[in-house]
Amino acid sequence: MNKYFFILLLSYPLIIMGQVTDLSLDFFKSKRDEFRKELPEASVAVLFSAPIRNRANDVNYVYHQDPNFYYLTGWKEPHAVLLIYKEAQRDDQGIFYNKIFIRSPDPIDEMWNGKYTTIQEALSMGFDRVDIRDNFSRKTPDFSYFDEVLLFEFKNDERDNPADPFDLYDLKKSFKEKINFPEIYDRKKYVLYQKIKNVEESSADSLRIEVQGLVSRDSTLLEDQILKDFLESSHLDALNEIRQKSAFAIKDYNFDLEKLPQIMKGLREIKTEEEIELIRKAAFFSAVGQVEVMKAIHPGMSEREIQGIHEFVYRKYGAADQGYPSIVGAGGNACVLHYIENNKFELNNELVLMDLGAELSGYTADVTRTIPSTGTFTPDQRLLYEIVYASQEKGIQAAVIGNSFIDIYKASFDAIALGLIELGIIKTTTEAKKYFPHGVSHHIGLDVHDPGNYGLLAANMIITVEPGIYIPEGSPCDPKWWNIGIRIEDDILITEKGPKNLSSFAPRKWDEIEKIIQQKSPLDDFNLPSAESLSK
Ligand code: GLY
Ligand code: MN
Ligand code: MN
Repeated sequence: MNKYFFILLLSYPLIIMGQVTDLSLDFFKSKRDEFRKELPEASVAVLFSAPIRNRANDVNYVYHQDPNFYYLTGWKEPHAVLLIYKEAQRDDQGIFYNKIFIRSPDPIDEMWNGKYTTIQEALSMGFDRVDIRDNFSRKTPDFSYFDEVLLFEFKNDERDNPADPFDLYDLKKSFKEKINFPEIYDRKKYVLYQKIKNVEESSADSLRIEVQGLVSRDSTLLEDQILKDFLESSHLDALNEIRQKSAFAIKDYNFDLEKLPQIMKGLREIKTEEEIELIRKAAFFSAVGQVEVMKAIHPGMSEREIQGIHEFVYRKYGAADQGYPSIVGAGGNACVLHYIENNKFELNNELVLMDLGAELSGYTADVTRTIPSTGTFTPDQRLLYEIVYASQEKGIQAAVIGNSFIDIYKASFDAIALGLIELGIIKTTTEAKKYFPHGVSHHIGLDVHDPGNYGLLAANMIITVEPGIYIPEGSPCDPKWWNIGIRIEDDILITEKGPKNLSSFAPRKWDEIEKIIQQKSPLDDFNLPSAESLSK
């Protein structure tokens, strides 16, 4: 065989695989193992898949799995439940630590909507036990046997399909009955009863301060006799009595809604090599989208057209979706932080803020550039742009191991405040909040705002650094600054060697942006027939 042909054969599938990369089954399996290590003794965690959401009439939104469920399973189908046990469970086949309940085959639905994963296939994905959801109620253990049943708060946002006795709604309903979940559940009180029940005498005072703080924000808590008595209890006998009353108030419940989110935050905030690879690609695709729009932009473009170019670019790379609704706002629209209408048809000479993220195998990027539609920043636009750029530089420099998210915020905020004071837009540092009203950094991952503890930065976290200045019309400053919104946002991998910018393919400096805008775009010659020419 010709040597070059052989190389071509080898590399072709790799390129295809590169476009559709997914996480390995080992990833999900090891995440279940890590998760189990974090569980308290004698506990079980129960997680449900995301509901199917209806768009209108008989059309549903594209199904999107719950990220926590996906992270522990790799499962992309609805109506599923996962149980992970701290201790080994035993059945006639031996011991097991986890079990997933899935849909049973349904030839009619599969004809319309695609094949369901079978029990055999699910077993080959590495679950210890797989059963059909129809058996969930009958074949789950007596939950009172466990010291704790960990779960996420019920959102009550799934619809019951009366024709399906085992849909997600019914699965949750039967589970609630099994764990004796109260009809009316006051989470705040339940958590406080738990804390009071377990409080040592030496920490009672600090718990009183915590309860007092909550009461000052929500005075209805004072209507609760146990909480009231606890705040007034000053000697040990009284404390003992209140501990007993708290224990009695929650004696019928062994579920816990606090620990599961906490465990997931700890796991998800540190990315594995596989996750980093997906986000690295998603960030690169998103940055290429920014560059292609820079080349193509002109004042006659619409916000929607710009959105389309970005989304086309990352779909061309094989990304299935965007990780959050795309934000393309020109002029004053850029001052609406999460503007998603994207329906302005003339860009004039405004700055255009573009905040978009490709989603690859569930992992999303989150990248923003702000560019002049004419190709050239006006002097005033440039002055503001350079402040945001300097602020982002400071923020990125602060994104190092051992620093906190607050360190990044402070570094970015101070630069914005200084710049705005120098331009005479504000007089004092605190006023900068008016024009820079959001945080600077968040984790990204399966969620665009990924869960994390938001403590100190550590290696293999991926966070955004995204300062901005937004001056809506009517702001108390010279009207020449009105209707300008600027955000620059990059995805930063925290490493031992310092911050690594995963979205750096898209230039951030004003002069580099202007240079790219001069370049020719394949879209310059992309003309479509006019709708006006249609005969009436
Ligand atoms: N795109 C949402 C955000 O930047 O947080
Ligand atoms: Mn962001
Ligand atoms: Mn963003």
